[in-house]
Amino acid sequence: MFKLLILLVYLVPNFSYADSTVGESLFNRNCATCHKRTAPNIIGTKLNSSTFLMIVKNGRAGTMMGSFKSKFSDDEILNIYSYLSGK
Ligand code: HEC
Repeated sequence: MFKLLILLVYLVPNFSYADSTVGESLFNRNCATCHKRTAPNIIGTKLNSSTFLMIVKNGRAGTMMGSFKSKFSDDEILNIYSYLSGK
């Protein structure tokens, strides 16, 4: 039991590290062309995760911000969020 706890304490921070690493590469390949130049810079975003998820899934009608719901799973979008928000 004690060993299991040690294992969990060891693994949990590594999982969140992995998520934001995945998120960073997804962001660089799919979002950075716009979000480091013309569109708002969203690195360090103050949006909460559910608002972020909703915007990325549905896009913003009438703007260059498209819908990504057919391209990414919720988990992938949350990985991007984890990278951008530092959470
Ligand atoms: C073709 C250019 C383009 C691409 C690619 C793009 N975006 Fe956007 N995005 C925009 C624009 C333009 C806006 C601002 C829309 C507006 O005026 O509300 C925006 C807005 C957003 C917002 C809302 C920002 C805020 O504070 O209101 C989020 C979050 C966002 N984008 C995330 C992403 C993510 C994540 C990706 C990659 C999966 C992505 N975008 C790809 C152009 C783009």
